[in-house]
Amino acid sequence: MSNPKPEMEGDVYFPSHEVISQTRIKDWDKTSKEALKDPAKFWENEANELEWFKKWDKVLDDSDKPFFKWFVGAKTNITHNAVDRHLKTYRKNKLALIWESEDGKQDRTFSYYSLNREVSRMANIIKAMGIRKGERVTIYMGRVPEIVFAMLACAKIGAIHSVVFGGFSVDALQGRIADSESKLVITCDGSYQNGKLVELKRIVDESIKHCPSVENIIVIKRTGHDVPMEAGRDHWYHDLCSLPIANGKCATEVMDAEDPLFILYTSGSTGKPKAILHTHGGYMVGTYSTLKYVFDVNDEDRFWCTADPGWITGHSYIVYGPLINGSTVFLFEGGPSFPYPNRWWQLIEKYGITIFYTAPTAIRGLMRFGDAWPNKHDLSSLRLLGSVGEPINPEAWKWFFHVIGKEKCPIIDTWWQTETGSFMITPTPVVPLKPGSATRPFFGQEVEIVDEDGNQVETDAEGYLLLKNPWPAMLRTIYGDPDRYVKSYWSKFPGKYMTGDSARRDKDGYIWIIGRVDDVIKVSGHRLGTAEIESALITHPAVAESAAIGLPHEIKGQAIYCFVQLKPGFGQSEELAEELRQHVAQHLGPIARPEEINWIDKLPKTRSGKIMRRVLKARAQGLPEGDLTTLED
Ligand code: WT7
Repeated sequence: MSNPKPEMEGDVYFPSHEVISQTRIKDWDKTSKEALKDPAKFWENEANELEWFKKWDKVLDDSDKPFFKWFVGAKTNITHNAVDRHLKTYRKNKLALIWESEDGKQDRTFSYYSLNREVSRMANIIKAMGIRKGERVTIYMGRVPEIVFAMLACAKIGAIHSVVFGGFSVDALQGRIADSESKLVITCDGSYQNGKLVELKRIVDESIKHCPSVENIIVIKRTGHDVPMEAGRDHWYHDLCSLPIANGKCATEVMDAEDPLFILYTSGSTGKPKAILHTHGGYMVGTYSTLKYVFDVNDEDRFWCTADPGWITGHSYIVYGPLINGSTVFLFEGGPSFPYPNRWWQLIEKYGITIFYTAPTAIRGLMRFGDAWPNKHDLSSLRLLGSVGEPINPEAWKWFFHVIGKEKCPIIDTWWQTETGSFMITPTPVVPLKPGSATRPFFGQEVEIVDEDGNQVETDAEGYLLLKNPWPAMLRTIYGDPDRYVKSYWSKFPGKYMTGDSARRDKDGYIWIIGRVDDVIKVSGHRLGTAEIESALITHPAVAESAAIGLPHEIKGQAIYCFVQLKPGFGQSEELAEELRQHVAQHLGPIARPEEINWIDKLPKTRSGKIMRRVLKARAQGLPEGDLTTLED
């Protein structure tokens, strides 16, 4: 990287000639300007690079806003583009997926040819379980290759997958299975997390006690420990694989571009998680095109996104985006520092990873162990680094840039959401970088930053971050609740998509994300709702009422703090506080474990009964509590 040009303000990192010469789009400004003239045309050109059983009559139908439709009248299937189409080319024998177990004792590799065999087998089995086009299948697994097969298999036969992150527990899983009315659950006997067994199948058994929709459970053997199997309902995957129905070709279903592909639950301001719905056509074009330009993937790359397939990052950039691009994906079962803090660096060296995409929380965590760990490894295969999930602090950015990327890999800070499906604000490799800024909107997109009344704020001022233009991978609705879709995203500022984030724009047009403006907490990049944490707490017999808030945390970005009002007869004690932390972890999942439980006699509420989180946040940080005139007493 060379010296900053004088016209840019602050700390700026320019791409080297080498980076520019390697990148397919060298002139970002020109491409951006052209795309903005006619975004639908830009996306149509992208769509033309993929295969369709029938092309569209219209690229974008915005006649029923905010229910936008893309590639109207077209027929395709995302699995056709992620798997089938590569079989006709030199990619047939190329590696599609490389997997390594947490303990490093096993690795498994799949060419596109064998990926197709695995996906077809799983698809045949899902079909044999009676699942038809449009029906929901819940997938609750660890990071093993079968999670990828299961997602692609559902898509192949037109079933709607609903992946629930394997780190969630009973309450979260139960709510999601019940809301989606899944007839089939695909799981593993268990998974490993830092050497410890997570009993996934037992959590499924517990969760479905109140889910009458579930007829069958497919269980993949991963750990080999004993699990109860209910005859007629529970089936070992390896047993099903030996049945004649599993073998043979499986036709890829012809789908309408607007047919649902998956739902993915995510937390909002209030109430239960929202089932975000994505479709075959638009999501396919969006993930394909964004990955192609933003990480500039090509056939020589080995792409590693460290997210879990159970979050949108994994859906879009472990499974669909990379495979549609015909890339080689690396999937690792474990986390960053088990058994030692060099686990990830070791894997980059071992597999020759060229693009490494992770989260600020992981970078901060690994940075803490010092430079000696990464310096033990040859990381020279890397050419691009990426970050996602929360704002990256400049200190972590610089460590990533200098120590991991050896000053030759641009840091691609991608801002997007479960709802957006694909990258929205992000550089490409040739864009000058400012540590901590996700830079500028992706091709075809424009943002607005506005005040409470929808007026654009001045340069450098904070405001609500809105997206102006529709894009193909945008959510189509909240499954089963279209009113909530309109209310959550399109009502406060009509005609524009409200992201739920606040941001500011500097004089060079760079966007700086500040954080959520709603009651969403980002713990280690994971999105959790205060409502979910509070409903887990309230199921404990000692809890009368509670409020959860997010406070800044050095490694996690934000940590969960809870205020608890006890029922009469229960005494405040450190033991009870620990029990409550444990309770939340057990019910919702270890990621939701509160950092601290604070006792409170009475929660501060407005006269209409809303908890004043602002007051709690100020109180917890020892800051002035501000205007209290709306407090009930
Ligand atoms: C929220 C969405 C899809 C990405 C994974 C999280 C925050 C995401 C960034 C970034 C600053 C970011 C926002 C957003 N966020 N990426 N690069 N810089 N903040 O998806 O769970 O739907 O969360 O994550 O607050 O609204 P998600």
